[in-house]
Amino acid sequence: MITLTINGAAHEVHADPATPLLYVLRDELGLNGAKFGCGLGQCGACTVILDDRAVFSCLTPIGVLPGRRVRTIEGLGTAASPGPMQQAFITEQAAQCGYCIAGMIMRAQALLEQNPNADDAAIRAGMQPNLCRCGTQMRILRAVGRAAREMRARKQAGLPTTQEAAR
Ligand code: FES
Repeated sequence: MITLTINGAAHEVHADPATPLLYVLRDELGLNGAKFGCGLGQCGACTVILDDRAVFSCLTPIGVLPGRRVRTIEGLGTAASPGPMQQAFITEQAAQCGYCIAGMIMRAQALLEQNPNADDAAIRAGMQPNLCRCGTQMRILRAVGRAAREMRARKQAGLPTTQEAAR
């Protein structure tokens, strides 16, 4: 049995330590935001945040996770109450088919937590590992830029930048 801490909650999982986190999230825990795209670390559809860094959950075995903190898109907000990064993607209409979007949002969230002052060049470089096959990259970049401005403003006002932080 392996205990995983996901979005602030402990989950006991009965699975081989080599099982990819993505499979456990989707198949065992019903957290379907992270998507299976390539299974090879090449598309970013499965991106989650491990401690403070964006990782490919398709390449992350659950055996390395005890004692560490995983965050998924479900931890950033809800449909009724989206977090600031989710709201920025909605406002900029950054999703087309939507398959890549949860991974994009998680990479962007980690990027701005590490570098709240990220400029356009830093955002472009930071988002590089995640692919969108619909071609909405420009909207995605605009959404991350908008989120960067809004999250800086929230921080200055002493407001949380995720729902998880608000709990
Ligand atoms: Fe993990 Fe593509 S499914 S990087």
